[in-house]
Amino acid sequence: MSSSKSSGRVFGCATRLPVAVGGAVAKRLLRGSARACRAAVAVAGVLLLGLGLAACGGGGTETNDTGTVQGDWAWTLPARFPLPRVPDANPMSRARFELGRFLFNDVRLSGNGRQACGSCHQQDKAFTDGRVTAVGSTGQAHPRNTQSVVNVVYNTTLTWANPLMTELELQARVPLFGENPVEMGVTEANKAEVLARIAADPRYPSMFASAFADDPAPISWNNTIKAIATFQRGLVSGASKYDQWLAGTALLTASEARGKDLFSSEKAECFHCHTGFNFNDQVNHAGTRVALTPFHNTGLYNIDGLGGFPFPNRGVFELDLVPSHMGQFRAPSLRNVGVTAPYMHDGSIATLEEVLDFYAAGGRNITSGPHAGDGRLNPFKSDLVGRINLSAQDKADLIAFLRTLTDEDLLTNARFSNPFAAR
Ligand code: HEC
Ligand code: HEC
Repeated sequence: MSSSKSSGRVFGCATRLPVAVGGAVAKRLLRGSARACRAAVAVAGVLLLGLGLAACGGGGTETNDTGTVQGDWAWTLPARFPLPRVPDANPMSRARFELGRFLFNDVRLSGNGRQACGSCHQQDKAFTDGRVTAVGSTGQAHPRNTQSVVNVVYNTTLTWANPLMTELELQARVPLFGENPVEMGVTEANKAEVLARIAADPRYPSMFASAFADDPAPISWNNTIKAIATFQRGLVSGASKYDQWLAGTALLTASEARGKDLFSSEKAECFHCHTGFNFNDQVNHAGTRVALTPFHNTGLYNIDGLGGFPFPNRGVFELDLVPSHMGQFRAPSLRNVGVTAPYMHDGSIATLEEVLDFYAAGGRNITSGPHAGDGRLNPFKSDLVGRINLSAQDKADLIAFLRTLTDEDLLTNARFSNPFAAR
């Protein structure tokens, strides 16, 4: 099958959504306070314009030919990885990355002092949390499964299903300031107090000063968000066994090698959506000319036989209410997928074995309960997801291959670690 048969929608250069649509969508972007919403509308407006320029503007080349050193920051990228795109307003630096590592893991950055970004995005689980769905600092349930933030610098859009969420600096405002659900619980009322807690730690003033040398008052929310974004951009994973095999420094077992071939075959179809160096199909980097943003319905649900997914996890439909966008989610990178269970946007598949059973069946048939319905027959399901004849050995081989994508260095390297954890 050719990838043009995918039912996935593609934004990209055509992302010149009418302003009215952009505004309405943007209003839901942060799911936060009215004030946050107004900010989101403004930011989304800028992003809509910016996307056209940044993603499609001239000058870019397809290859990584601009070197891997930016300021005092040296990217250590595997050969096949393109140079990441970094916004001019927030250049990479070692001081920003290190400050970001602290702030990302500092529970004092939440309203009640209980939760950091790193509480949900934990290094040993490739920056996920092992939960079915996330739980915020006040105990409020989040409807979605926590995503990995590894290689997030290369994602065209962020989060499970939001075509407008394109910048890490914007995304960070959701867990920090969002009210529905509450994640970190920073509000207008406690904002100044939370920042004062950070300023009171004797380590931070000099760290902020060296990370933002030109700023006379460096300890601010803006700079906090920039440093956290810089840390996340630096979380690049490309040292898995599979990468070592590509570089000729490791061998795959027979099962892993069979799984690799099956993964990239027209039989299993996996590679259509989980493709390229990052095993996903929304890739953006310094040389990107056209950043495509497909989303796909993989047939996890079919509640009413009309294609329904459970609220509030109906994919891109949740934002734009376009019927055919029901159940469409971003294909996640499969790097480190061996340590990021449970799976899917709602954590509804517990193991890789069950993921393979799901794909082999061409969707999920739920026979009882409120979500009953045969996902295999979901009318909005991608053409690329259909029944596959996978033997038990095929499934085991595919899983063995997926496990070669685990990058032990990323999971253990002190550069990416929580500085507050007892060692
Ligand atoms: C309560 C747990 C929790 C906390 C705390 C949290 N996150 Fe997340 N994170 C999530 C969940 C759940 C998602 C998926 C959200 C969605 O799709 O709506 C996510 C998604 C993301 C993504 C998108 C990744 C991708 O591949 O597109 C980024 C980036 C991110 N979080 C960064 C942060 C930062 C920065 C902080 C701290 C300011 C933070 N998170 C705090 C649970 C959490
Ligand atoms: C039509 C595009 C498409 C094809 C083909 C496809 N996937 Fe996916 N994959 C997705 C999307 C989209 C998701 C997220 C779906 C959701 O959460 O609702 C996903 C999720 C996954 C996950 C869970 C990852 C996580 O972090 O939760 C795994 C594992 C996975 N796919 C493996 C595979 C394998 C193996 C194949 C081949 C048998 C395959 N995929 C074929 C689009 C695709």
